[in-house]
Amino acid sequence: MSAALYLDHNATTPVDPVVLDAMLPFMTAQFANPSASYESGRLSRRAIDRAREQVAVAVDADPSEIVFTASGSEANNLLIQGLARAYRAETGAVVHLACAATEHPCVLAPMHALQQEGCGFSTLPVDTQGVIAKTAMTALPAQTTLTSVMMANNETGVVQNVAELATEFRATHRGWCHTDAVQAFGKQAMSFRHLHAAGVSALTISGHKIGGPKGAAALVRDRELSMHPIIYGGGQEGGLRSGTENVAAIVGFGLACERASTDLATRAKRALDVQTWLEQALRQRGAVIFADEVLRLPNTTYAAFPGIDGETLVSLLDRQHVAISSGAACGSGKAGVSPVLQAMGVDPVLAKGAIRISLGMMPYAASDRESVERFVAQLDVVLGQLQRFAAVA
Ligand SMILES: Cc1ncc(COP(=O)(O)O)c(C=O)c1O
Repeated sequence: MSAALYLDHNATTPVDPVVLDAMLPFMTAQFANPSASYESGRLSRRAIDRAREQVAVAVDADPSEIVFTASGSEANNLLIQGLARAYRAETGAVVHLACAATEHPCVLAPMHALQQEGCGFSTLPVDTQGVIAKTAMTALPAQTTLTSVMMANNETGVVQNVAELATEFRATHRGWCHTDAVQAFGKQAMSFRHLHAAGVSALTISGHKIGGPKGAAALVRDRELSMHPIIYGGGQEGGLRSGTENVAAIVGFGLACERASTDLATRAKRALDVQTWLEQALRQRGAVIFADEVLRLPNTTYAAFPGIDGETLVSLLDRQHVAISSGAACGSGKAGVSPVLQAMGVDPVLAKGAIRISLGMMPYAASDRESVERFVAQLDVVLGQLQRFAAVA
């Protein structure tokens, strides 16, 4: 049996061993509740404060702008539901929301749920490469309260010019802009300060995509933004996210953010070299690469072999101990065509063939050329099996 090969880093990353070491004391001896006033409680509180500073430095924000949550999904829900409810309560006006059909379900679903409650909703169109045009922002209804545009797509890796889109929106509208930066963070440089100057009021990042643990993420937001909590209780996180803090996960998340924002240019260049080699190898074998005319994350390749079902390919590769995805991890297990490819107008028959290969970009788990060559060798085995099967059938 060959060693397992993991090429699904957009779904989740292995925890960085250095991060794990930093977390362990907070799961053992240093277990105190950070709200407790005695010494060990104060130690837990200080650990959270330090993590908040690390996150703030990593995204170029102020520590007071960070709200810790348990996941990127929660941070997106907090922003969307929290802002919609506060706006409705404060103005009595109808909330109007907007995002592209290519957004992650944890942006789309809360917007659709609010639509059921009477909010307005507009879909931002994308072109065949998955890119939102500036004019799409201008064309949004005048009363648009909130628009959310992801910085990089989890399936295609397509990078949007969020600053430019926000500037365009804010020039013509009075509403707010949010960006889901869960996939972009740790793969490209990020400055909340600059984004904020361009008109972005809030940004989401998540720990388990950058070598941190599952269970810690953050909403980075302008403090002037009025939001209701979605979890009420003891008033942690400035009243925006009640619940005893997951100190170990937050500590790990803070350190992971620090490490994910270091050596970015070098790591991105290395990933790009591997990605370029991989995509050439896939094309030589007849694959179509989606969104290959625009800027994409250097670790994400979304491709299809015409006439070959993506799920079949993924499960045959799984038998060879190769882990890749047939689309968003959160959507796997659901049959059908990726809504992202649908929104891009990709032929549904071709879209059924979609497979996503996402490389590791952190030094402790970087997918190098050798690992991708091994992947292509296993792919050849599987494509050969399918050809033989087709010849017999
Ligand atoms: C673009 C994007 N946003 C949000 C999320 C959700 O993050 P989490 O898994 O931390 O809830 C994901 C996870 O796949 C994602 O890819």
